[in-house]
Amino acid sequence: MKAFCVLGSPRQEGNTAKVLGWIEDELRSGDYAVVRLNLGNGVLSPCRECYACKKVADAPGCSQDDRGNSIFLEMMTSDLIVFASPIFCWGVSAQLKALLDRAFCLLKEDERLLLAGKRMALVATGAGAIKDNLDLLVPPYQTFAKYFKCKDVGTLLIPGCTTPDKLNGDVEKRARKFGRSLV
Ligand SMILES: Cc1cc2nc3c(=O)[nH]c(=O)nc-3n(C[C@H](O)[C@H](O)[C@H](O)COP(=O)(O)O)c2cc1C
Repeated sequence: MKAFCVLGSPRQEGNTAKVLGWIEDELRSGDYAVVRLNLGNGVLSPCRECYACKKVADAPGCSQDDRGNSIFLEMMTSDLIVFASPIFCWGVSAQLKALLDRAFCLLKEDERLLLAGKRMALVATGAGAIKDNLDLLVPPYQTFAKYFKCKDVGTLLIPGCTTPDKLNGDVEKRARKFGRSLV
């Protein structure tokens, strides 16, 4: 089984990276091959809305000359996709949003969905609370999963995240438990 874990934070050693790392450890222990994609800064540009992808039947077909097509092929060959992001202004990071928008290339003209049947999860960290803040990320994510005919297998929201060094043992326990639940 293969898990494709997308880190949407610009910080490679930030809160989200740490939480995702604990989840990935548990996936590996559960015999998943884990592929991590660090979206970092500028890996993917936003969707240009050119609709070129709609003319390509069985491949992503994005017209942009960057890593997009290879990323989408990786997603198509995974069993589990984990999206991890810090909350930025009550949404996912711009890095992850670009990937989600560009996943539009996997929706084909004849209503075939090239991600159909994948298991999907969301992990998010934020400095503030869950209520009226981190919880706002859940409906768009669940709508995305449903529209792409993926199976939502869970959401992990970690509030109160400021300095990565200060993430406590309780957060690690929650992340590992969540990771085990995905196996
Ligand atoms: C531009 C920006 C916007 C943010 N917006 C929010 C927000 O809307 N709600 C919140 O709780 N935290 C917000 N934060 C705090 C981060 O989400 C939080 O510290 C997160 O854990 C950072 O993750 P990282 O270390 O993986 O980058 C924001 C931080 C930045 C830099």
